[in-house]
Amino acid sequence: MTKTFTGVSKAPADGGKQFLRVKSVTEHFPGLKTFVFEADGVHTEKLAPQRAGNYIAITADAGESRVTRAYTLASSPKEAEGGIYISTVKKAGILSSRLVDGLRVGDVIEASRPDGKFVYDPARDCAHIVGVAGGAGITSMLSMAKAAEEGSEPYSMTLFFCVQNAYEFLFKDVLDGMRSGRVRVVYVVENDAPEWAESGVFTRELLHRYVGEECTLFACGGDALYRHIAGELAGDGLVRNMKFSANSVTDREDEEGRVFTLTVHLAGRKYAIPARAAETVMVAMERAGLAALSQCRVGECGFCRSVVLGGAFTAHPAHDKRSEEDKAAGIIHPCCTYPESDMDIVVPADPAAEVL
Ligand code: FES
Repeated sequence: MTKTFTGVSKAPADGGKQFLRVKSVTEHFPGLKTFVFEADGVHTEKLAPQRAGNYIAITADAGESRVTRAYTLASSPKEAEGGIYISTVKKAGILSSRLVDGLRVGDVIEASRPDGKFVYDPARDCAHIVGVAGGAGITSMLSMAKAAEEGSEPYSMTLFFCVQNAYEFLFKDVLDGMRSGRVRVVYVVENDAPEWAESGVFTRELLHRYVGEECTLFACGGDALYRHIAGELAGDGLVRNMKFSANSVTDREDEEGRVFTLTVHLAGRKYAIPARAAETVMVAMERAGLAALSQCRVGECGFCRSVVLGGAFTAHPAHDKRSEEDKAAGIIHPCCTYPESDMDIVVPADPAAEVL
């Protein structure tokens, strides 16, 4: 057994899990902190490699539940190789609030290896990339900028960092210290822009003023920003392709307040738990304290891949990444699936957790 800040894990670090110690904490404003993590030196000797744009999934006990949430990394591949991951956490939701309020230097947490599809692909993407970061969405963009600066990724980058008020610029000292010539940062402020920033929001005109070559656009900052960019750049010949960082799957509207019975087969046992139509099957299992396996929470990694024995469901249209073969075989990703009736499912157990 390993006791950590975020709970008790029965398994030491294996190929998929790491134990990370908090090396330092910086509070930017109330409710927003940056954590620097290192290997705990007991179960994890050396951090797993990280690519620019990756996340780690942190698993924790929260009340009666055991939950996993993905956090994007602001560190670069070379920083990870040198022994640290950096992540900024905003107080929102059960696990993030627990981390922001209670995680201290020296505490140990349980986390996944870095993973994710929000990364540069030389076969798909242009040699010049444009990053658009909205507020705290700077974390993964900072990771990508650092990678260009240190030469661990081959692209050059123009980064548009967009906020409402100038005090919201995080890591400005780090960005201003980039001198390789491979990264250009354009600060964009909606209200009372200082002289060193552009006034307003990201626009097609702003893009063309700063970027003169074909590019791939990466954006991180939420659905409103993505809709704005897609509308602004529709049909634009300068941008070859765009990639938006995935948001977590949230509750949906269900005015009838429907509640179904979810029968879960997990680690050789059977549980009957309530599942609200408004929430994903994964959230229902977490609320019931079941240690089902998850990682990305947005339908990408396949860690939560489960088999439906009976019942109706709806997969979130933007996050349903299942193959046609999986769909035909009755496979779902509980992290992005909502119940439409009583359901009976077989789910993989988290090997690092105690089964209740
Ligand atoms: S947790 Fe990654 S697909 Fe469900």
